[in-house]
Amino acid sequence: MTSFNKFYQKIATNRLSHWLNTLPAQLTDWHNTHLHGDYKQWQKTLDALPAAKEGSAVDLVNAVSVGTPNDVHNEVINQGEYTRLENLLKKFKPWRKGPYHIHGLHIDTEWRSDYKWDRLLPHISELTGKYVLDIGCGSGYHLWRMRGAGANFVVGIDPTQLFLMQFNAIQHFINDDNVNLLPLGVEQLPQLKAFDTVFAMGVLYHRRSPIDFIYQLKAQLVKGGELVLETLIVDGDENTVLVPGERYAKMRNVWFLPSGKAMCAWLQRCGFKNVRMVNTDVTALDEQRKTDWIDTESLKDFIDPDDPTKTIEGYPAPQRAIFIATT
Ligand SMILES: C[S@@+](CC[C@H](N)C(=O)[O-])C[C@H]1O[C@@H](n2cnc3c(N)ncnc32)[C@H](O)[C@@H]1O
Repeated sequence: MTSFNKFYQKIATNRLSHWLNTLPAQLTDWHNTHLHGDYKQWQKTLDALPAAKEGSAVDLVNAVSVGTPNDVHNEVINQGEYTRLENLLKKFKPWRKGPYHIHGLHIDTEWRSDYKWDRLLPHISELTGKYVLDIGCGSGYHLWRMRGAGANFVVGIDPTQLFLMQFNAIQHFINDDNVNLLPLGVEQLPQLKAFDTVFAMGVLYHRRSPIDFIYQLKAQLVKGGELVLETLIVDGDENTVLVPGERYAKMRNVWFLPSGKAMCAWLQRCGFKNVRMVNTDVTALDEQRKTDWIDTESLKDFIDPDDPTKTIEGYPAPQRAIFIATT
């Protein structure tokens, strides 16, 4: 079973020690009452992964990769282990966020999460030595890139348990206890006021109370800390917000899509300073697409086949923006 003891030991001696007042009880409750029906089976899958290979190169700067594409040829990992690795990792489908490269196995995830990373990296403050929190981190792809960019201690939270399994599978090979994923929702965080940078990407539109969400993000930052928020936007002025009907791009849980100007106004209204929108991007079909690592539909199926500027429901097609602000 996933144990968080190492994490507790780690934070006992760093600036997150006050989290120990609430976290162990929360995660014990999660473990006792909230485990997914497939959790035990997933754990067996994790336990059956081939052993991590000592001395393998890890690249978190240009990608998330362990070993090299020649590792089977060079017998770092034998063909049997490689096949077992692929079969076991496919049990954790759908793999949405990535890609990952493990000893030459390319986990070609639905999303090219590296594109988002490349869009935001030129605009954010230096991460070297920083404490970083990624809220709604999915399988944790960006956690690894944050560590690769020099962050000292990286924590991700995401309530979806399959994504914790995917993270644990990658962590099995990378084995870095300064990178952690906890199965929590943002609403379960106390006011930690301890992180230098908080990322919240692709989450705001899933929240029913976006203003409360912005305050929850602010409460995790040190004074002078930086928020990096990425979300779906629509065109319009500071008073434009789209609240779609039952579905947006076939997603049921989409609530508020502000314009870029409205999003900046919300951040300022919540007390953030130096608020700016640093990037906008219409999601292209090569960034979110169906691969062998998902069995479900993808962006192509969510867009009007006769008009790529519209979702299947007739709303503006997904356009995403990155906002940066300080406390
Ligand atoms: C669209 S994905 C974004 C993943 C990643 N941050 C990215 O930008 O690629 C939204 C994520 O938010 C997570 N999520 C859903 N409810 C949440 C909550 N209450 N607190 C934190 N994360 C949540 C989902 O499990 C999912 O992984």
